[in-house]
Amino acid sequence: MDLTEILNCLTFDKHPDLLVGIETSDDAGVYRLTPEIALIQTLDFFTPIVNDPYDFGRIAATNAFSDVYAMGGKPLTAMNIVCFPIKELDKDTLRAILQGGLEVIHKAGAVMVGGHSVEDRELKYGLSVTGIVHPDKILTNAGAKPGDLLILTKPLGTGILSTALKGGKLNEKQTCNLTELMATLNKDAAEVMTDIGVNACTDITGFGLLGHALEIAKASNVSIRIYSDKVPVISDAIEFASMGMIPEGSHLNQKFCRQYLDISPELDPITGDILADAQTSGGLLISVPEEKSKQLLNGLIERKTPAAKVIGEVFSEPKGVIQIR
Ligand code: CO
Ligand code: CO
Ligand code: CO
Repeated sequence: MDLTEILNCLTFDKHPDLLVGIETSDDAGVYRLTPEIALIQTLDFFTPIVNDPYDFGRIAATNAFSDVYAMGGKPLTAMNIVCFPIKELDKDTLRAILQGGLEVIHKAGAVMVGGHSVEDRELKYGLSVTGIVHPDKILTNAGAKPGDLLILTKPLGTGILSTALKGGKLNEKQTCNLTELMATLNKDAAEVMTDIGVNACTDITGFGLLGHALEIAKASNVSIRIYSDKVPVISDAIEFASMGMIPEGSHLNQKFCRQYLDISPELDPITGDILADAQTSGGLLISVPEEKSKQLLNGLIERKTPAAKVIGEVFSEPKGVIQIR
């Protein structure tokens, strides 16, 4: 029994103002306060993925903001969540993590309002972020329409590169590029997207592009076709994937998605590994009407998002399936 099954044993709250709850596996919960304002709430934290505590703080905080951006929202406040081995680690380490997080909170234009810390054998850090959105402008997983184009705003491969980093295989430049990519907020992408108006959005994290695209396909009752040669990938990721540096989560993603996949027989298995790669602080996957796609791409390029690529299309059939070409 996995965690999802355990969660499914709970009866979920229903409320006329609960606009997005837990049952649709969306990025965040959304609760209507007034006809004009809905509250977005989300929480994310994890164990270190880079060695530098300040960078870890930046990455964990950046990742935590993504779920608010993926709902089409604007973040307002953030709270720290800290699990810290106080007997084994220096207090300066914790200070650096929190400083990194705070820098990102300010970049996001949000305010740090508090938090909670506990002693734990394993270090963990993240944020609970609260944002707002107009109730009519929420971007859920369920809004993708046949004919939409799918646009991705960061390259894939952070799971593979983080695995290589843990194995001591990255040089300083590769480490720095990886860190900056994961510490890049999806703020610019979200602002361009919400200005233009799109049909659906999610952020790419632990389930990889395939897993998160599948959530959209299921929730929107559509088919998603991914053009694998169009998907932006961190240049070194292919080489490290060929060396077998695949995180465990990516294998699980491939296994989980397999029954919903229609894969072209010519697809290189390494490409499959990259499409399923579990991302940390990945980009936004945006489902946009074809006639707005040019405007969205131009806006993303203007704001210099890490990637701005059409990677797929939405079709009406077969429902809840990902086709990889
Ligand atoms: Co998300
Ligand atoms: Co999340
Ligand atoms: Co969303």
